[in-house]
This record gives sequence, structure tokens and C-alpha cells, in this order.
Amino acid sequence: MQIRPLKDLSTLVSLSKRRGFVFQSSEIYGGLGSCWDYGPLGSLMKLNVKRAWWNAMTRRSDIVGLDAAILMHPTVWKASGHVDGFSDPLVDCKDCKTRFRADNTDSYLHHKKCPNCGSKNLSEERNFNLMFKTHMGPLEDTGSVVYLRPETAQGHFVNFLNCQQSSRSKIPFGIAAIGKSFRNEITPGNFIFRTREFEQMEMQYFVEPGTDAKYFEEWKETRLQFYSKYGIKKENLKVHVHEKLAHYARAAVDVEYKFPMGFSELEGIHNRSDFDLTQHQTHSGKSLEYFDEPNKKKFIPYVIETAVGCDRLFLAFMCDAYREEVTTDEKGVEDVRVVLGLHPEIAPYKVAVLPLSKKDELSIPAEKLRDQLAEDFDVAYDESASIGKRYRRQDEIGTPFCVTYDFDTLNDQSVTVRHRDKMSQERIAIKDLNDYIRKALKNF
Ligand code: GAP
Repeated sequence: MQIRPLKDLSTLVSLSKRRGFVFQSSEIYGGLGSCWDYGPLGSLMKLNVKRAWWNAMTRRSDIVGLDAAILMHPTVWKASGHVDGFSDPLVDCKDCKTRFRADNTDSYLHHKKCPNCGSKNLSEERNFNLMFKTHMGPLEDTGSVVYLRPETAQGHFVNFLNCQQSSRSKIPFGIAAIGKSFRNEITPGNFIFRTREFEQMEMQYFVEPGTDAKYFEEWKETRLQFYSKYGIKKENLKVHVHEKLAHYARAAVDVEYKFPMGFSELEGIHNRSDFDLTQHQTHSGKSLEYFDEPNKKKFIPYVIETAVGCDRLFLAFMCDAYREEVTTDEKGVEDVRVVLGLHPEIAPYKVAVLPLSKKDELSIPAEKLRDQLAEDFDVAYDESASIGKRYRRQDEIGTPFCVTYDFDTLNDQSVTVRHRDKMSQERIAIKDLNDYIRKALKNF
């Protein structure tokens, strides 16, 4: 048997649409650029991605959760540097009206030419702020401007003392959050890799200055272990160390994943020093110092940040899991089994119930069995087409187990459980089925 990995993003885009993972936003109106909707399977899987990250973070005794508002006081973005510095340089072509980024467009960088029509009739470079602006309240004047947050992290900084004091946490401790962020990206693209509306999963770990380098190294390791636990192939990950650092950063690395378009950032891990808390302390006039009770001293903690896009991780899981198993018969005819080898915690459904026949005799008890399993798991149910075709449908969406309800079941109250990867089969009593699936998922 030959195994073919994913060759291009378009294969995944079409599988996503056909099977209900991801749809183009507002498709019936021609779509809205770089916005995507998660369908029946995608919404289940995205919840699983978030749950995996959330549990990895908040089931530790030293990290608490936060769910901050998207709209924040406008001064937050002044203090964070986003109002003045969160921008890309843009150039307009006066002939074909294309607008492009000046800092990463080859034809412009090398020849001062438009990448679309080759014209040299170009505007000056202008800085374009990536934050989406809106107005709060009935008046659309400068005093009512608010921004859609471009990152979740600022909610952690402004709530640092609220979280620390209400949870009586001692440093080192972290704040974790999952939420929507918005960036008016100039060059979104590559499906859900870079979009204008996306979800981030960020954690800020507050530490005593001087211990920051140690915790930075620890978090690098912890995050790599997370990817390994969820089955991301080692050869598809690499750590890129930033040589040029932002003025406030002490250290920064990107965890990169080998997407079909090449290695690209999946997660950023940064040592942000005390920059953010100091900025908010200065702009708000409120102390954000931590009081270290045993040592009777006050200080502004340093922050180690881990920040990963939920949509980007979703895409990495899909890319990594996709495989085509190709067998060729004696006449040279190829048979291709498409498998989404997702980790069972990430897979949309854990188990599918497939009655061998559509007739009431089997379908009525099979639906009852579906309900029994649904008490513990997300369950698919499918009674149309041959059993072989139905197995393939589940393989393609990553369902770890299929349960076949056949005519023997009526007599022996047992079902056949089929394993997605090995395609092995076992006969299991219905009364033991939930326990069996629970254990099998754990030991997958
Ligand atoms: N608070 C730090 C921060 O926001 P970032 O590197 O700009 O850092 C963190 O973003 C992660 O968020 C990225 O590694 C990426 O996974 C995700 N992300 C950023 N911009 C994105 C976009 N336009 N579309 C999808 N995901 C994005």
C-alpha cells in the first residue's frame, strides 16, 4: 500500500466544503473575502481544538481562565502601541488600482513596479493601521471610536490584578483565554490560515523578573509537547528563533508548521518583559504592581506569552491528519481510501452507528443504540449506501470507530466495532459498548 500525504490546500478546501467542515462566508452572495463559516463537522471539531488547548492550560493549578470583552477602552490600544504602530506599509497602483504591501511584494521591492500590471505609476508608501474601527453609542464622532481587538492579550494585562487577587494566585501564575480577534489584513489568504476575523488562544504567564528566561524555555517545551500529544508529526514542526526582537521583547520564537504552502507560523512564544503592564500602569494611572507577601516586596512581573490561532491550529490538524491510502489490484486499478487520521479528542465524531439495513427491524434499535452512545460521545448515524461506502465516509471525516448493527445483533445483542486506522473489527456486547469506546478512545 502506498500512502500519499496532502499535496495542496485546494484538496482540503473542497473536502471541507463537501463534508461540512468549513464554508465560504456569505457564499450565496458571492462570499466575503477571507471570512469563513464552520459547518456541522467544523463547529464540532473547532470546539474540540479549543477544549484540548483550554484543558492543557487551565487544568494546571497555576493558570486561571478569562473571557474578556472584544470592545475595550480605546486607551488600551494607545498604551499597547497598536494605535501608533500596528500597521503595514501600503502602495496604490494609479493605473490598475491594485493596492499591495510595500514590504513583502517582490516586484515592488526590486523594481518599484506594480505586481499586477507592472506599471511604475505608483503612490507613495502609506502606513495602514490593521485595527478595525467602529463607533460606540449613537454618535459617529471621534470621541466614540472603539476598536475590535486585534489580539486577546490586552484583556489579560488589564485584568492582571483582578484575576490574581480574586483567585488568590501567587506568582508565577498564568491567565488563559480563547476569543475572537480582528485584523484588517492586507494580504489574507491560504484558506483559514490568515483571515480578518479569527480566534486566538493566548496565555500570559506572570513571573518574577530574573526568572523569565527559565520560564520561557519551559513554555517552549510545554507547547511542543502539546503538539506531540495531539499527534502532529515531528518532521512538520520547527522552532524559528527571532534574531530581530521588538524593543520590549527579551526573547521570541515561532513554532512553525509545514503547511502545503511551506513552513509558516503556527504559534508565537514571547518573553515580553514588563512592557505591557508598565504601559497600562502609566496610561491608566493605576498601580499594576504585584505584592510578594513572603518577601514583603513589590514588583511588576515579566510576562511569558504563548499565542496560537485556533483556526490555524485547526488547519494544521487537518493538513497533518490527511492521507490517501492507495492500493492497486492485479489489473492496475487504483483504490484510494481517504483517511483523516485525527487524534480522537480532535475528531468531530468519536463513533458512528451504521445499521446494516434501512429496514425498521434494524434501524429502530440502531437509533436507540445511537442515543445510548450519545449520552457519552458525539455520534454520527448513517444508514444509506453500502456498508463499505459508509465506512469510507467516516474515514474521510476522521471518525475513530464505526459500530455496525446487523441481523445477528437482534439475537446476540452484540455489534461489530471497526477501527478507523487498522480497519480491524471486534464483536462487543451492547451493554458494554459505552465503556469499550471510552477505553478505546483513551488508549487510541
Ligand atoms: N498577543 C500576541 C499576538 O497576537 P501574533 O503572532 O500576532 O501574536 C498569535 O498572533 C497567533 O495568532 C499567530 O501565531 C497565529 O496563529 C494567529 N493569527 C495571527 N493573525 C492571524 C490571522 N490574520 N488569521 C489567523 N490567525 C492569525
